[in-house]
Amino acid sequence: MRILAIETTCDETGASVLENKTIKSNIIFSQVALHKKYSGVVPELASRAHMENISLVISEALKKAKLLPGKRRKFPRFDAVAFSRGPGLPGALLVGRVAAETMAKFCGAALIGVNNLEGHFLSPMINRKKIEDRFKYPLLGLVVSGGHTELWLSKSAGKYNLLGSTRDDAAGEAFDKVAKLINLGYPGGPVIEQWAQKGSRDLKFPRPFMEGNFEFSFSGLKTAVAYYLRDNCRRELSAREKADICFSFQNAVTDTLVYKTLFAMEKTGVYSVSAGGGVMANAFLKERLLRAVLSRGGKVYFCDKKYASDNAAMIAVAAWMRLQNGRFRSNIDIAPRLKIESWQ
Ligand code: KG4
Repeated sequence: MRILAIETTCDETGASVLENKTIKSNIIFSQVALHKKYSGVVPELASRAHMENISLVISEALKKAKLLPGKRRKFPRFDAVAFSRGPGLPGALLVGRVAAETMAKFCGAALIGVNNLEGHFLSPMINRKKIEDRFKYPLLGLVVSGGHTELWLSKSAGKYNLLGSTRDDAAGEAFDKVAKLINLGYPGGPVIEQWAQKGSRDLKFPRPFMEGNFEFSFSGLKTAVAYYLRDNCRRELSAREKADICFSFQNAVTDTLVYKTLFAMEKTGVYSVSAGGGVMANAFLKERLLRAVLSRGGKVYFCDKKYASDNAAMIAVAAWMRLQNGRFRSNIDIAPRLKIESWQ
């Protein structure tokens, strides 16, 4: 089984080749440098950058997988060309769809539309470069990215129920906004994690637990940081202040994600958790979640750090799951606000 996958939902242009359960290539062109000066992703710039880079990224993925056609050679054969059909930025998604459809036509392959969030949910199946069929269903999913924070219940492959999502900001978005408040640059997650390691005083920012449901809310936490800065800090923050704010903010986000995951385990009786998405690159969060889940007798599958942020390898895995289950057809319309959907 050979799959070419394309990812263009936000600010990463990605292409990956999956063959015989092995990720042969996973090329990611990050647009971070382009969006940095705006402290966030500018949709129009993102679409243009995808357009400029997509063919090069695909060629690199084919080259690395030793599939680049020579002057007279035919296009390589693929069983499917998959692409992220949403959720994401409309213009960015269009670029991925057109590229995938063109490749599918030339390669005589099925065109498969994949939900980017399903890719994050399944990304822990990639162990080093191999797909490992290690998920034990039923399974909870904690998907934490720049645009989404969601808890899912998956009873079997391709069957998904949304338990809860964020009412306002996603966790990654909160990292980015808090980093902006304290002038740490973009994206906020990695730099806040670094500063947090030097912090020690917990400033006790609120934990948005919202008892009794599976929903999240991070905008109040971001506002609490803004009020703390207004009421307690001078214009120029000292290194100690920065470190303590990052430490306290990261603690509050982590406590909330861990609390909700344990609550979902208790309420559903499902003790296996798959955790993916850009924020899952955070070592502190992983460590705390792991300890909490293990202490309840549960099991957690984490994605490798390199598969945490948007990438095409996880899209290839989601397509592979469908093909394994005989699903060679899927919805191929782009859907910027796509919700999780079952395909089984
Ligand atoms: O999955 P992703 O690429 O999704 C979207 O583009 O929506 O995730 C990007 C998000 C950003 O908000 C970024 O700040 C966050 O993941 N992130 C982190 C870390 N690395 C990336 N958040 C916390 N700690 C990190 N180490």
